[in-house]
Amino acid sequence: MPEAAGPGLAARLAQIPRAATMQAAERARALRAAGRDIISLTLGEPDFPTPAHVVEAAHAAALRGETKYPPLTGTPALKAAVAAKFRRDSGLAFEDGEILVGHGGRQIIYDALTATLDPGDEIVVPAPYWNAYPLIARMAGAAPVLLACEEADGFRPTPEALDRAITRRTKWVVLNYPNNPTGAVLDRAALLALAEVLRRAPWAWVMSDDIYEHLVHDGTPNPTLAAVAPDLAHRVLTLTGVSKTYAMTGWRVGFAGGPARLVSAMANVQGQSTGGVSPVAQAAAAAALEGTQDQVGVMRAAYAARSARVVAALRAMPGLTCHQPGGAFYAYPGVAGLLGRRTRGGTLVSDDRAFCEALLMEEGVAAVHGGAFGASPYVRISTAAGEAVLGEGLARIGRFVSGFQ
Ligand SMILES: Cc1ncc(COP(=O)(O)O)c(C=O)c1O
Repeated sequence: MPEAAGPGLAARLAQIPRAATMQAAERARALRAAGRDIISLTLGEPDFPTPAHVVEAAHAAALRGETKYPPLTGTPALKAAVAAKFRRDSGLAFEDGEILVGHGGRQIIYDALTATLDPGDEIVVPAPYWNAYPLIARMAGAAPVLLACEEADGFRPTPEALDRAITRRTKWVVLNYPNNPTGAVLDRAALLALAEVLRRAPWAWVMSDDIYEHLVHDGTPNPTLAAVAPDLAHRVLTLTGVSKTYAMTGWRVGFAGGPARLVSAMANVQGQSTGGVSPVAQAAAAAALEGTQDQVGVMRAAYAARSARVVAALRAMPGLTCHQPGGAFYAYPGVAGLLGRRTRGGTLVSDDRAFCEALLMEEGVAAVHGGAFGASPYVRISTAAGEAVLGEGLARIGRFVSGFQ
């Protein structure tokens, strides 16, 4: 259809670019469809299939007739499984009215921010960050306040920097560990130090995005704020889901536990957007939470091995540095040593965006520039891709960087 002037779009959307991770993935798909040989290391999407017992539970639910409108906040069966999961994994006790099931962790975040943010409010986001938090906050008219986390600190927020970032306008502080994109993890002591600062800002909610909780490379349990500092629990929203842990990105099930007042407001937002999650997907999620956890361990070990391999390979490449991720499935190499130089193909690489563009055009490897996560000059490489894809991707990245003049 020819592009023509027409009815207007919402003014607030002008500030909301399409998420760079999705843009990069779409670009890779389009180039592939056009016949290019593309290795995509863009999305945090497990290459493993959803465990068979989970798929079977969905099938059985559909055959039982669980195909009608679901309850808005989640089916009783899944909410019970979520309550048991929070108790088992995090030592957190939630009543039914304190749990919300949504369409992935993303919708939980959307519900929470939309339910609480007014124009002029601020949300403190440690950077590098998963790009949804600032974009969703902007859609609600609020201002993201970025808290820079240094590579020298393992990309962890320091209590001092958190203290500086919080103002009287702060409505939320976001904590996401293991972190996307850096893989940084926070231990109990680090969380306690941040809790000390958060105690001094009783007007702020805290979002603990634990979506990668089971993907800590060495298998140690991931501590979460509401359990480590129970006195803060009345203003903490703990969110997670099945996408990453159980290779269920397409099922769209996430959930959160938090104070009933907040959860009820979030359900209100969800009721006016999507309504409840498909009961078939909820039955699958319940089976994932309640069934054997054996495959979780197998996948975690595979991601840890891939991470070790990718980090070692990147560190051996001229001009690259690479911090050691503690969890999740990303590597976040620094490209500062290559800026201001030309690629073999003659492109002058001035920043991480130009690096990724040249890598895509010259070697057919799609990755996401660090600027999209609020920290440059870095590149996010997803290690959730399969072994063969990763091997080929690394070979091409190696050839690319060795060609810099
Ligand atoms: C940090 C973080 N939180 C939440 C999500 C949301 O995942 P989903 O909506 O698939 O549950 C993602 C997905 O990439 C993520 O990286």
